[in-house]
Amino acid sequence: MADIIFEPLRFKNLTVKNRVFRSNISGRFDNYDGSGNQARINWEVKFAKGGVGAIISSFVPVHLRGRIVPNYAMIDNDSRIPFWRALGKAVHEHDCKYILQLSHGGRQRDINGIEYPVGLSSTGKTDPVHGFKCEAMTLAQIKEVVGYFADGARRAREAGLDGVELHGANGYLITQFLSSAINDRKDDYGGSLENRARFVLDIVRAIRAKVGADFHLQMKISATEHDDALGLFRKLKPKGNTVEDSVKVCQWLVQAGVDAIHVSTGSFFPHPRNPAGVDLPVEDLAKSYDTMISSGERTFLNYLLFRGQPRIARRAWNQAAGDRKHIEGANLKDARAIKQAVAVPVICTGGFQTASVIRGAIERGDCDAVSAARPLVANNELVKMFARGLDEAPEPCTYCNKCLVNVVENPLGCYDEDRFKSRAEMIDQIMSVYTPAPFAGV
Ligand SMILES: Cc1cc2nc3c(=O)[nH]c(=O)nc-3n(C[C@H](O)[C@H](O)[C@H](O)COP(=O)(O)O)c2cc1C
Ligand code: SF4
Repeated sequence: MADIIFEPLRFKNLTVKNRVFRSNISGRFDNYDGSGNQARINWEVKFAKGGVGAIISSFVPVHLRGRIVPNYAMIDNDSRIPFWRALGKAVHEHDCKYILQLSHGGRQRDINGIEYPVGLSSTGKTDPVHGFKCEAMTLAQIKEVVGYFADGARRAREAGLDGVELHGANGYLITQFLSSAINDRKDDYGGSLENRARFVLDIVRAIRAKVGADFHLQMKISATEHDDALGLFRKLKPKGNTVEDSVKVCQWLVQAGVDAIHVSTGSFFPHPRNPAGVDLPVEDLAKSYDTMISSGERTFLNYLLFRGQPRIARRAWNQAAGDRKHIEGANLKDARAIKQAVAVPVICTGGFQTASVIRGAIERGDCDAVSAARPLVANNELVKMFARGLDEAPEPCTYCNKCLVNVVENPLGCYDEDRFKSRAEMIDQIMSVYTPAPFAGV
């Protein structure tokens, strides 16, 4: 019998050769000014070679004010198009599709950079985790940012990429509008679910007006927000959007022209449930979080907590993480609820790295495809292993989240030393993203 994992997935405007997508993930590989670098191309090609059907890029800012950290390639003006064209071409050589994630961080950032110390948001309240300052967007600013997303989609199309994804998940600007826990506006963009969804629906319509009906457009959404996961008074906090809210939003998105839904969770990032880990690696976190100390109002206190009271930080995080024994497929219930309500394919993210689990999820109708980030960082060739008949990699991802806590300061790769024969081997694997080098020297 044919293996569903290797059956092509047909979207309205795109066909992907199998059901495993590389989920959005990358390191700070590019130039400070947002121009792309060879390391990002090397990074993406690793996964294309490993057999995934499509790669969904990491966060690609549509405007400088929307970036979360410097050194991520941007798509904020036409001069960026040649870089994305080169990247798409390199990925296509391995029969892999490339979907670019159009993103704006709003108030949620890691390092604000020198250009825009104050972010934009639906609200004027600082973000609750790091305390990044922001201002509530005016109607004129909303219109402007909607235009940035549409121009980003046009540029992705001109670059020959296979589609775009709206980063509508994990607490970034679109979530800041969608979320009942964050959006406190009194105008047409706040209040009811319909009003909170207006911003993203404006974006979808603006993109369709710019790129037409035949370019792939998908949306990543935090189906359940769990906004009350952290904080001293979390029991008093609102939970944010429920899956029922998100089902409604997804139906509106599809009516407005979205071709697929990518299901995630959590109203901020990182969140104890996303990327879900077996433990919070506080000691590693304390080593990299210093990079963020001067960025937000709460970052220094967080740093003292990680350094001075790691046990308290670890306990608070782990208690909020839900079932840490069942990380693989934790979002499938939400994916299923959405899939039953919309007529477009649904991709689910969260822990996927076992062929039988992925197969089961698709065969049961919980989703049409899965996306994987950390498991593919740990095993770039996981899909090829599935094709050879393995159910899992010999050294699976341990969900230790050391890659996550290193990413703000260090190059991205797998940081679980126990998975390697030696520390030197681990470091070689991390540094491999810099080969081939952009400038070979004379
Ligand atoms: C280091 C790191 C960076 C990430 N960057 C992004 C991002 O730019 N955009 C996004 O939508 N998700 C991002 N994610 C979330 C992943 O795409 C994925 O949805 C999540 O980690 C759960 O999947 P996994 O268990 O396969 O890692 C990131 C995750 C990690 C660990
Ligand atoms: S550091 Fe490696 S093993 Fe740990 S979560 Fe990241 S990819 Fe998985």
